[in-house]
Amino acid sequence: MTAELACFAESCRARFPITEILYNCPKCGGLLEAVYARVTGDAAAWKSAWRQRRTSNAPLDQSGVWRYREFIPFLDDTRHAVTLREGNTPLLDGRLAASYGGLDGLAFKHQGFNPTGSFKDNGMTCGVAQAMRLGVERVACVSTGNTSASMAAYASAAGLQPVIFIPHGNISFGKLAQALEYGARTLEVEANFDQILALVRQIAERLNIYLLNSINPFRIEGQKTIMLEMMDQRDWKVPDWVVLPGGNLGNTSAFGKAFREMRQMGLIDRLPRLAVIQAEGSAPFYDLFRSGEGAELRAVGHPETLATAIKIGDPVSWPKALHEVRCSGGLVEKVSEQEIADAKAVIGRAGIGCEPASAATLAGIRKLTKGGVMSHDADVVAVLTGNLLKDPDYIHRYHTNCLDSPDGKRIISNYANPPEVLPAELDKIAESLRR
Ligand code: F0G
Repeated sequence: MTAELACFAESCRARFPITEILYNCPKCGGLLEAVYARVTGDAAAWKSAWRQRRTSNAPLDQSGVWRYREFIPFLDDTRHAVTLREGNTPLLDGRLAASYGGLDGLAFKHQGFNPTGSFKDNGMTCGVAQAMRLGVERVACVSTGNTSASMAAYASAAGLQPVIFIPHGNISFGKLAQALEYGARTLEVEANFDQILALVRQIAERLNIYLLNSINPFRIEGQKTIMLEMMDQRDWKVPDWVVLPGGNLGNTSAFGKAFREMRQMGLIDRLPRLAVIQAEGSAPFYDLFRSGEGAELRAVGHPETLATAIKIGDPVSWPKALHEVRCSGGLVEKVSEQEIADAKAVIGRAGIGCEPASAATLAGIRKLTKGGVMSHDADVVAVLTGNLLKDPDYIHRYHTNCLDSPDGKRIISNYANPPEVLPAELDKIAESLRR
């Protein structure tokens, strides 16, 4: 077998069969990752095969994940893969947003164009494929909303039973609605994300339910393809920076692994710097990064942010993420609720739009250019992780000047675009439109 699970801890690196159901290393408790026998091949031939598959009508070739199957070779064969044509997300030119961010140019890799509206689909198609291969019947996850929406869709499409656990009252209705519609057994638990995750890890073991949180190494494999597809779209020109929001830090882990593997395979010759942006009230990774060498993550007991997708105080993947940020020469920044809200409105006004957590990227870029860390002519890609329609309540509050941050302070709607209420009278409507 060419694929194995390996402990991520440098001091352990124990190996296990790829078909063993493990979430942490049984020897040392470390995180696990999928590793492969050194791939031999010709980088130019892979690039041209992947490009060629875009013209194919075969379902797996049409997937922006499985099209790149040589980059994620954990399955013996791809019979078990279920695709909703995930990936295939555009790289959009964000000119208006660039000037707000203090940049000459800025590209958005918009993962909100995925089948369930977030980057989770890239990973979930792989997690569910592994679940099918293992022959499990039930899959579970804890979620701030997007993982659960995605898992519900992919599990149901594969004929598996999805069980989701969400923090009661703390996910957006758009996301909850998706889970219900896709047929997930939905348990709203009166606790926060971190507390529920600790519980569910025990429940999964006791009831033999396969866990599909981002601690699952196969989800990370799928999320690697977000960066591979982005590089393919850029004709393999490496950007200076990739900017992304940080919550449970699965994406940071996946992106860093992807770039290191692309370099090993000869697809690229250098790594971009990863800039991870957190919300001020949920920024344990920011604190860790500033603590320097040898520090351990100190969980935030009561994380707070209106960007509920990244309202996480104890991110499980921090050892991987820290390694990747350091390897890439990157950094971690944090931004306020006000900065997220305004950046989000600017992304919307550029005709692009995204959910609150995604807008942390542009808010972070603005801060980094103002601080002289990122130069105005840098080549930057920001990853928009979720679709605008995921959280319409936030948007309506912002544009009608009634968005309050968790500490009760009113957010100033600097880019408000409120609707006008008018009577059904021709003159009144005409008069309003003349203004
Ligand atoms: N952006 C969005 C829209 C998300 O849904 C998430 C995570 C993140 C960013 C952070 O990504 O965890 O890889 O650092 N949402 C998870 C969920 C936790 O349950 O849907 P990360």
